[in-house]
Amino acid sequence: MSDLTDDLDTSKQKKLYIKTYGCQMNVYDSERMAESLGPSGYVATDTAEDADMVLINTCHIREKASEKLFSDLGRLRPLKLANPNLKIGVTGCVAQAEGAEILRRMPLVDLVVGPQSYHRLPQMEAEVALGKRAIDTDFPLEDKFDHLPKRTALRGPSAFVTVQEGCDKFCAFCVVPYTRGAEVSRPADRLISEVRTLVENGVRDITLLGQNVNAYHGAAPQGGADWGLAELIRGLACIDGLARIRYMTSHPNDMQDGLIAAHGDCEKLMPYLHLPVQSGSDRILRAMNRKHTTADYLRVIERMRDARPDLMISSDFIVGFPGETDADFQETLALVHAVRYGQAYSFKYSARPGTPAAEKIAVPDDVAHARLQELQALLSEQQRALQDEMVGREVSVLYDKPGRREGQMVGKSDHLHAVSVQDPNGHVGQLVRVKVVEAVTNSLKAVPVAL
Ligand code: 5AD
Ligand code: SF4
Repeated sequence: MSDLTDDLDTSKQKKLYIKTYGCQMNVYDSERMAESLGPSGYVATDTAEDADMVLINTCHIREKASEKLFSDLGRLRPLKLANPNLKIGVTGCVAQAEGAEILRRMPLVDLVVGPQSYHRLPQMEAEVALGKRAIDTDFPLEDKFDHLPKRTALRGPSAFVTVQEGCDKFCAFCVVPYTRGAEVSRPADRLISEVRTLVENGVRDITLLGQNVNAYHGAAPQGGADWGLAELIRGLACIDGLARIRYMTSHPNDMQDGLIAAHGDCEKLMPYLHLPVQSGSDRILRAMNRKHTTADYLRVIERMRDARPDLMISSDFIVGFPGETDADFQETLALVHAVRYGQAYSFKYSARPGTPAAEKIAVPDDVAHARLQELQALLSEQQRALQDEMVGREVSVLYDKPGRREGQMVGKSDHLHAVSVQDPNGHVGQLVRVKVVEAVTNSLKAVPVAL
């Protein structure tokens, strides 16, 4: 039988279930892993029960990440006993950090692969099919993106594109510099051709991903000085058919002049910025090794708003960092009042083994918990107020999918609000001008504007 007929023989199809934890980059990685295993005969399935291979794509930022991984693996044990051919793999940042330990403690695990080595999955799967155990948590220099297949399985008009991985900042609480390694940027020409292919396949909206995305510095298409994120955005904006560009996650110190200027004059760059601050206290920011003050952060926000007055700002916060006093926490609340956030994520500090902050004495849990509640109440209030302010305004919505009601379409506004629109003639991928008529919990209702 030829290779081609092998590919077409559906009786040989194997089922792949991937459980994904964590950030958008993990969601992106899971999709790429599924694609890379396609030629090995795998198709995606929604449950572990009927799978031939289960991959757990882990996130080290989650609290008790490795304990949760071990309990997930424990739950897979009966499936493995019932079907000894079931292959189990661990991928992502916990695999990177604790690969050897996972193989030692969990004999049922066949494969461990870190984020820099996903292009080796098909080869590793072949080794596993021969009954071996496979591990790859090296940081090879080769660009894994060169070896991943072209993107095919697209869902809807929006897509993520990883442009940069890793981080050199070493915030005292964070495992990313250890698990994802040093900053590496993908060459601009590769990114332009990846986005062109996406657009040819119906994508109109992209989010550029990176742990420290605004530190992007990729090889320029024609040689010469590296491109920064602003040049990359301007290069991508030239692609006909691409309507929207966003990026995340950024560090305040890497908000360069050119990038701020792009928010003022690049129409395809959306008025939304995720810019984590973590704390509003300079003392805590210093202890966190954030390398910026609250004044630096507020100055960046002010300059961004000068460039783009309707900018929607989002952030990440950590409360209860070791040494945080009530006065420090009050400064965080004051900063939130000063900025007015459209959206935000807030977390109670939890120690990550191997990070400098893990050595410090924690704030009592009940205190940290109460602070988190107070901060989240304020952030929700702001989110709601900014959403209410959208009522009566005209915005653009990119339809992602039909809504639950007859004739309804749902999508995202320029500011990333979820919007539902009564539009019986609407179709997925359409960019429509609408007027917001009502703000409901976590979304807006709108009607098309007659042109
Ligand atoms: N404890 C709590 N939150 C954390 N984050 C990262 N590490 C920790 C930790 N040890 C949060 C930060 C970061 C977001 C992705 O996760 O706010 O910006
Ligand atoms: Fe982690 Fe972000 Fe700090 Fe880098 S900048 S160490 S990814 S929190």
